[in-house]
Amino acid sequence: MSPLAIFFLFLINSSLAANTNIYNVQNYGAKSDGETDSSEAFLSAWSAACASTSSSTIYVPRGNYLIRNAYFNGKRCQSNAITIRIDGTLLAPSDYNAIGNEENWIKFEKVNGVSIYGGTFDGQGASLWACKNSDYDDCPDGTTALNFYKSNNIIMSGVTVQNSQKFQISIDGCRNVKLQGLKVSAPGDSPNTDGIHVKLSSGVSIMKSQIGTGDDCISIGPGNSNLWIEGIACGPGHGISIGSLGWKKQESGVQNVTIKTVTFSGTTNGVRVKTWARPSNGFVRNVLFQHIVMVNVKNPIIIDQNYCPNHQSCPHKGSSVKISDVTYQDIHGTSATKVAVKIDCSKRNPCSGITLEDLNLSYNDHPTKASCINVSGRVSGLQKPDNCL
Ligand SMILES: *[C@@H]1O[C@H](CO)[C@@H](O)[C@H](O)[C@H]1NC(C)=O
Ligand SMILES: *[C@@H]1O[C@H](CO)[C@@H](O)[C@H](O)[C@H]1NC(C)=O
Ligand SMILES: *[C@@H]1O[C@H](CO)[C@@H](O)[C@H](O)[C@H]1NC(C)=O
Repeated sequence: MSPLAIFFLFLINSSLAANTNIYNVQNYGAKSDGETDSSEAFLSAWSAACASTSSSTIYVPRGNYLIRNAYFNGKRCQSNAITIRIDGTLLAPSDYNAIGNEENWIKFEKVNGVSIYGGTFDGQGASLWACKNSDYDDCPDGTTALNFYKSNNIIMSGVTVQNSQKFQISIDGCRNVKLQGLKVSAPGDSPNTDGIHVKLSSGVSIMKSQIGTGDDCISIGPGNSNLWIEGIACGPGHGISIGSLGWKKQESGVQNVTIKTVTFSGTTNGVRVKTWARPSNGFVRNVLFQHIVMVNVKNPIIIDQNYCPNHQSCPHKGSSVKISDVTYQDIHGTSATKVAVKIDCSKRNPCSGITLEDLNLSYNDHPTKASCINVSGRVSGLQKPDNCL
């Protein structure tokens, strides 16, 4: 090529880069060998994208990138439209001693307008699960793989998050978050590996995703409103749970939650609401569970307001979290136990406004049973098991 042609190529390249603001992590020193810690390189690319006054894209090419850990802070960002496009895999250290005592592996804090497309986040948690599953009782608590904290206007699409030491994804104190087309997985026997944990957030949607873990596929903590979950395949795992709630005496409630078109396969629970048997001013109201398929699920429909594992820390017995206006509509398939509907509410503050509509759950081709304690509401349509209200 002539020097002139090279010069023009250079011009085109640099002007392209200038217009679209692409920050390739490899240009900041990231190595795709899976062994060199690329945390600093990712943080440098983030700083550059964040300082941009227009929209910017961080690009992660194919390959494996070891990230010891990385906290992306958005507090001083100029840009409120940062896209992170990932073709590669981010790997956490596989030795749990490296970060097992830190809360998060990758954390986004106070960011606004961040979208992540594609890629794999691999928490490499196997050594910590083995520790927790052994008799050794001095294992660290473990990290959450991907945490969005106090952040707004977030999109995650087509991303795989797997094998975290603890929770795979946590959405905490956020507004307007869209998660779609995610694959979230950890082995069925990995402890505390909740798929997606949402708390103190509003306007979160989780759509068209496959989740299988050793704990809840999705867990919904205190202080959530306007949550929409649709098109989920869950299993293995403990199902989708609102709770545990009511640990604290003063606690914000959960309201306006829609969970629809979900298939649970071989999970311990299907749709669950669980509150600690302790005094609390928390509440759960205005929840719809709709079009749910159960395949061999141990507790397809369950409300447990007497949650107190090991009978510790619950001196007063019974929760005072108020549960009201919860609708179960078109829930069908197979239960792995005889009792397919178990609604065990608070003696002090019984559940009200519970609606059961079109239930068709069987157990080994036999009818199932329902059990209701301290609950009022109404039924309509098909009732298999028989109405217990
Ligand atoms: C309930 O949440 C949905 C989003 O999940 C929202 O569109 C709707 O406006 C909310 N309803 C109320 C009454 O806030
Ligand atoms: C209930 O489910 C069973 C088993 O899937 C099915 O054969 C039956 O037709 C269903 N009943 C109704 C009324 O939908
Ligand atoms: C709650 O259920 C228990 C056991 O069925 C019953 O004895 C009690 O009266 C109920 N309490 C209320 C407030 O309905």
